Amino acid sequence: MQPLRIMEKTEYFIAKTFANLEPLLAEELTALGAQNCQIMSRAVAFEGDMAMMYRANYFCRTALRILWRQSKFTFVNNRQFYEQIFDFPAEHFLREDGTLVVHATNVDSIFKTPLYASLLAKDAICDRFRDKYNERPSVDKEDPDVQFFLHVYKNEAQLFVDSSGESLHKRGYKLRNHPAPINEVVAAAMIKLSGWHGECDFIDPMCGGGTLIVEAAMQALNIPAGFFRREYGFMRWKNFDKELWKAVRKEADIRDDVPIDFYGSDINGRFLDIAESNIISARLKDFVKLARKDVVTTKPVRTPAVVMMNPPYGERLQVDDLSELYASIGSTLKHNYSGCRAFIISSDTDALKAIGLHPFLQKTLYNGPIECRYVGYELFSGDRKAHVINKKSKQ
Ligand SMILES: C[S@@+](CC[C@H](N)C(=O)[O-])C[C@H]1O[C@@H](n2cnc3c(N)ncnc32)[C@H](O)[C@@H]1O
Repeated sequence: MQPLRIMEKTEYFIAKTFANLEPLLAEELTALGAQNCQIMSRAVAFEGDMAMMYRANYFCRTALRILWRQSKFTFVNNRQFYEQIFDFPAEHFLREDGTLVVHATNVDSIFKTPLYASLLAKDAICDRFRDKYNERPSVDKEDPDVQFFLHVYKNEAQLFVDSSGESLHKRGYKLRNHPAPINEVVAAAMIKLSGWHGECDFIDPMCGGGTLIVEAAMQALNIPAGFFRREYGFMRWKNFDKELWKAVRKEADIRDDVPIDFYGSDINGRFLDIAESNIISARLKDFVKLARKDVVTTKPVRTPAVVMMNPPYGERLQVDDLSELYASIGSTLKHNYSGCRAFIISSDTDALKAIGLHPFLQKTLYNGPIECRYVGYELFSGDRKAHVINKKSKQ
């Protein structure tokens, strides 16, 4: 057999993310040493080597998955398409008795459906195994050893192997799930967009299962996004380099203390139990103070602080009067959180208006499929106009 495909110094990858998080992801990848980062729609293309691929999976907080391109070709008919995929040495990743799945996207090509393109590609990969080893891998849609992504656009096809496996938002610290959680990648992005770098206390007064608190504490302590995750797609590849993976993990420079506190509260005791188990599983119990409270009774222990929350949207958690709830959040921020900055994500733009404060930050983010507004408020005592004039005179 030929030697397993060892990665060149400049392989081509695509890191996938949610819409509007591409610049954050490009920043993260560049900081990790990725070359030629290029922003695409819900993705960032970059170049690097195998270590860079492991690094992106382990450290990137705003990536959903990392795909490694194996081939790019043009074709005019089914036969040519099949032959090009057949030539790809899939045996470098997959065992003869292993399992695979091929996901496809298809735009304006000779194929009527993406399903047809994926079936043809799957057949080409499996036929190569049958020809070479007299045995062929089988399809497993639930838990394949190797997952391929095929992008077909007009007469051009790109075949990627997925190095992540389960989506990277699955960090591995969630032992129990809240019924309406914020996606971990979105939570990490909200924290990055707020400009908070761990310099003051972090408060989530509607913390549910504790995602924002855990992600904030992981950022402040420099704990890699994948620190608690046990499995990645590349671990099931034939060419998995255990030593290199170990070396990449050792690059983490985790802090063992920070001079700030994290506060999480929620009106629902059952949800606080979920938050507690997640916080314990992320080994953050010493840093986080949890309490059962109505948001309107919360206030910071010291200022300045950052308060960040994901109130109910009325989609997955039912609330009697959303506008009333959001108005009470606005009034609490105004009266109890003077000197702090507050950040809120919600899909209900009318309810957000009921907050009644003037945002300095407004962005559209997606919590999975749910389109949301992410807003930031600077909170000060007294009149906003006087605050702005006062701020300008100090500059
Ligand atoms: C969308 S969930 C937050 C989910 C959380 N970000 C997570 O990832 O698990 C909204 C939370 O607000 C809480 N909540 C609703 N009304 C509240 C109130 N008046 N005071 C405090 N928490 C409240 C709910 O119990 C729920 O856990």
